[in-house]
Amino acid sequence: MPRRAVITGWGRCVPPVTLSNADLEHLMDTDDEWIVQRTGIRNRRLSHVEATDLAELAARRALACAGMEASDLDLIVVATCTPELLCPSTAAMVQDRIGAIGSAAFDLNAACSGFVYGTSVVAGLIQAGFAHKVLLIGAEKLHYAMDYRDRSTSILFGDGAGAAVFEPSEDGAGVLAVDLGADGGKGSTMVIRSMGSQGEPGPTNDPETFRLHFEGQAVFKIAVQNISASARRVLELAGLTADDVDLVVPHQANARIIESATRRLGIEEDRVFMNIAELGNTAAASIPMAISDALDAGRVQPGDTIVLTAFGGGVTWGSIALKWGDRTQPVGVHEGELPDTDMTVFDLLRENLDFYAPLHADEPPIT
Ligand SMILES: CC(C)(COP(=O)(O)OP(=O)(O)OC[C@H]1O[C@@H](n2cnc3c(N)ncnc32)[C@H](O)[C@@H]1OP(=O)(O)O)[C@@H](O)C(=O)NCCC(=O)NCCS
Repeated sequence: MPRRAVITGWGRCVPPVTLSNADLEHLMDTDDEWIVQRTGIRNRRLSHVEATDLAELAARRALACAGMEASDLDLIVVATCTPELLCPSTAAMVQDRIGAIGSAAFDLNAACSGFVYGTSVVAGLIQAGFAHKVLLIGAEKLHYAMDYRDRSTSILFGDGAGAAVFEPSEDGAGVLAVDLGADGGKGSTMVIRSMGSQGEPGPTNDPETFRLHFEGQAVFKIAVQNISASARRVLELAGLTADDVDLVVPHQANARIIESATRRLGIEEDRVFMNIAELGNTAAASIPMAISDALDAGRVQPGDTIVLTAFGGGVTWGSIALKWGDRTQPVGVHEGELPDTDMTVFDLLRENLDFYAPLHADEPPIT
């Protein structure tokens, strides 16, 4: 059997502060029913710590799950479009904190497609024999780029991190095929201009420039078309059909995007994993968090054929076809938690709301 990269550890880090649709009703002219119908989202989590802290905890949990020591790793890759700092990379900071002495470390930015792009890199290196024990993390603190009075963007996104440990396998399991793509010509449909989320948005930044911009309907169409086309291509490359798929774990962008794309593929909803209702769109973190949740929910069985598929800023897209290994239970559990906070969601958003206030000077005040 050829050497392939198989996932042997998985973990996630979900920050404790919740932003519900009811909370959003206080900040903008929206309502729970509209948001649930158009997106499937009910809650999202906002982080009181940096994306690196989320990445570190997800990493420790994934390593415990794999029964692996950090010192055994030879590579750490972090997929993120909201790093705490541009340099050093989040991966390098995680490497230091977890004590992965001697491992290589770098960040990768393909926005919401980051975990799929990262999986292709990791799988390629493992297949070639250039890497053996690799940690891939998706981590985001997106709420910095959200103007919580802009109802067309900020309702969608949340913070979080997920991680996966990859190891070589020669028993038929692992990554079977990869399809990646991009269309930089459509890059202006989703833009985050600022760099580095450490610290609060400050007076030196222009709020109009700082906040996330996207063209919702254009992005919706591009997402549905490219996710379904990419997933179809990856199945073809793996010599599989839609009927062979046990579970699709898609990027959690919008429940309607996922439903439309998987309907086009002919894959019914009981073979599609969604956790968007509670976590929103967490960009590069969404697929590894969803993998972790799917395992916890008993939705993955040994030997299952799984398709990961994503779409994001760039614009970028990609899909992975993989065969799950023989273990669906963690070897161990890391008991650590994020530092406690007694902040309410409105305490956490105070600086953010102040920063974007100049863009809403002629609108009614927040109730
Ligand atoms: C943003 C998105 C949810 C909007 O849903 P939509 O069905 O396309 O809605 P539209 O933009 O057509 O807006 C319909 C109406 O609802 C209004 N509306 C927009 N946001 C609203 C909100 N949060 N609450 C209530 N009404 C809202 C609009 O102003 C519009 O009103 P109008 O008809 O009076 O002009 C959807 O386009 C989307 O998810 N796009 C993809 C974005 C994405 O996933 N980006 C990241 C990809 S990784």
